[in-house]
Amino acid sequence: MKQLLSESELHGGVDRVAAEISSKYGNNPITVVAIMTGSLIMLADLIRRLNMPVRVSLIRASSYRGGTTSGQLTIKEDMMLDVSDRDVLVVDDIFDTGKTLQAVVGCVQAMNPRTVATCVLLHKEGRQLVDMKPDFAAFQIPDEFVVGYGLDYQDLYRNLPFLAVLEESDIAAVHH
Ligand code: IMP
Ligand code: MG
Repeated sequence: MKQLLSESELHGGVDRVAAEISSKYGNNPITVVAIMTGSLIMLADLIRRLNMPVRVSLIRASSYRGGTTSGQLTIKEDMMLDVSDRDVLVVDDIFDTGKTLQAVVGCVQAMNPRTVATCVLLHKEGRQLVDMKPDFAAFQIPDEFVVGYGLDYQDLYRNLPFLAVLEESDIAAVHH
């Protein structure tokens, strides 16, 4: 596995977006809607760097059916707070084709929030298939499949404290 971003580089990136988010919202309360499960680590680090009143809501989206290619997208809202009339910040791990973030934003819009903005840890270059981009992104990365800091391959590697590019040998090493 080849390290792409170290633990301290990741923390630096989260510091930067937290500062941008703070300057956009000031002391206005926000509701962070985190897309499970990939955004979990980013969520925990990000919200501890925000000083305005923060509510945390979860939404589930899954598009990767095991492998490294995109499958059917499923969204589950059973863990959502009421966001009507709230300023919502949707947080995800990575903006790849953008279909997940676009679908989740559409879903949140239907709940009548006051505003919706989006924040991702990673923005993968040259892969976008939708007509939107995240309002906040900590890092631009090349078009490679990455794991760690919340991101998985077949539900593994989320616990790595750094971000790594998955290599052929790592794929071969995953047993069911
Ligand atoms: P999108 O809908 O194509 O933008 O894909 C976004 C979702 O796919 C993210 O929430 C991730 O869960 C997953 N994903 C995309 N690229 C990667 C990757 O390189 N590693 C791990 N997961 C990824
Ligand atoms: Mg995900």
